Amino acid sequence: MAQIISRIDPNSSEFKENQAHNLALADQLRSRQQLAALERPQRVIDRQIEREKLLVRDRIDAILDHNSPFLELSPLAAWDLYDGEAPSAGIVTGIGRLAGIECMVIANDPTVKGGTYFPETVKKHVRAQTIAEENHLPCIYLVDSGGAFLHLQADVFPDREHFGRIFYNMARMSAKGITQIAAVLGSCTAGGAYIPAMADETIIVKGNGTIFLGGPPLVKAATGEEVTAEDLGGADVHTRLSGVADHFANDEHEALAHIREIVSHLNRGKAMPVVMQSPEEPAYDPAELYGIIPADVRVSYNVREVIARLVDGSRLSEFKARYGTTIICGFAHIMGIPVGIVANNGLLFSESAQKASHFIQLCGQRGTPLLFLQNITGFMVGREYENRGIAKDGAKMVMAVSNVNVPRITLLHGVSHGAGNYGMSGRAYDPRFLFSWPNSRISVMSGESAAATLWTVGQERVLSKLQDPTPEAIAEAEAVFKRPVLQQYQRESDPYFATARVWDDGILDPAQTRVALSLAFSAALNSGIDHSKYGTFRM
Ligand code: COA
Repeated sequence: MAQIISRIDPNSSEFKENQAHNLALADQLRSRQQLAALERPQRVIDRQIEREKLLVRDRIDAILDHNSPFLELSPLAAWDLYDGEAPSAGIVTGIGRLAGIECMVIANDPTVKGGTYFPETVKKHVRAQTIAEENHLPCIYLVDSGGAFLHLQADVFPDREHFGRIFYNMARMSAKGITQIAAVLGSCTAGGAYIPAMADETIIVKGNGTIFLGGPPLVKAATGEEVTAEDLGGADVHTRLSGVADHFANDEHEALAHIREIVSHLNRGKAMPVVMQSPEEPAYDPAELYGIIPADVRVSYNVREVIARLVDGSRLSEFKARYGTTIICGFAHIMGIPVGIVANNGLLFSESAQKASHFIQLCGQRGTPLLFLQNITGFMVGREYENRGIAKDGAKMVMAVSNVNVPRITLLHGVSHGAGNYGMSGRAYDPRFLFSWPNSRISVMSGESAAATLWTVGQERVLSKLQDPTPEAIAEAEAVFKRPVLQQYQRESDPYFATARVWDDGILDPAQTRVALSLAFSAALNSGIDHSKYGTFRM
């Protein structure tokens, strides 16, 4: 397989400028992630310690295998929302290995408003379950939550993808043989009580763990009965009298150890549905990505330089290298896992869309997982291209992406606009995982294009109000009109705006992307792979 030959000069001023810019973005990402993970009022942390509870990340460390990586998902959910009161949306989700098995961990963070569910908490929890279901990962729930964040009940309770969906997902996964395990380490109130109640096996901790539909204050208000939390729904009650929980733990450490014991008895192995190779480092250092990604997102560059720093041995077996050259398709390996790569290298034209559709079908036939590298402003526009039917070629790509059965992972490494987002396996196309880079931008079109479009359709009304339509006055009116649109697009296309709303599964540091992708592909291989059942159409 041919090795990509890099044309990058690490001594050039352009490389150094890009490097400074992208290292600053990576630093910003790291410091924001640390803030979301660790920054809590001391009184809240002290209270956890007083109650002999671990902090949420220590709980996760305690259940994972020694040296297991943890692919944390959406660590910046709810970033910059609720005046910073809901860091990480009050829940930690991610994939790690327990007793040698890749599992999805879903852990409430009781130091964030009692672990209650904000809209993004629900979204993040349901998203983690969706990933678990699609990739057949057992789910481990570390429960310590006051249930719905009551001030925002309308945004967390009634709709299809709201709180109730959590229990529906548990029931559906259990039916598919995807094990559901809950450890009740703290409060588990009202609807939240259904997490342990719906689990296949449940552990509860003496003293701290409680499960009830209505807490003591509600019981008193409703019936006048006075009862302690422990007598109403503590560990002894639920493991001896009610049977709502299966295992009694004297403390948190015992509960966490018991989770590992349960997983060790799942009687489950991972049958690799692909032919692996020995993992190999790329020939080019992934850290060089900082100098390659342009500081200005509008500047185009050769995506092969990115691929060379993501794949084993920097080797890519290109498909149709001479045709539709604004998209790069080819076979490679990431940490030994075979992947088909579809990467933008300019605007999408009819030929590039057809080439990608053909290649996606090849991957479907061969059962090769797909990686989409998105940096796309959209499809080519204009009479010539419309007349030649670019819309139907884009539709072929959307059809191929929507129906190919192999796992897909999408990485936004530049801009993501318009129908290019669709054909390139955007969020709506259910890739198994979707990650972005700190330099990425996502919006229906660029701010400049949106402002120009809105000015074109809106200028007549604006200009009709001008008393004296001199060229200067018109130019001024246009600038005033466009400014808020540009500002809005600038704000809303920011990757932190996107990740806060769980439009992706997290922002990745470019230099660590290869590792994250390998963990995600490895997790995806748990579900097996269906090969396509039809012949390949030459597009
Ligand atoms: N909705 C909104 N805010 C809530 C909340 C809820 N369901 N439960 C707790 N909070 C807030 C508290 O007001 C407090 O806010 P503050 O830090 O700004 O003062 C913060 O979360 C922590 O709560 P606190 O009671 O101080 O912490 P705790 O660790 O002692 O107890 C709970 C946590 C969850 C056990 C307890 O707050 C509780 O029982 N909450 C009500 C649970 C409930 O009835 N939920 C119904 C869901 S349908």
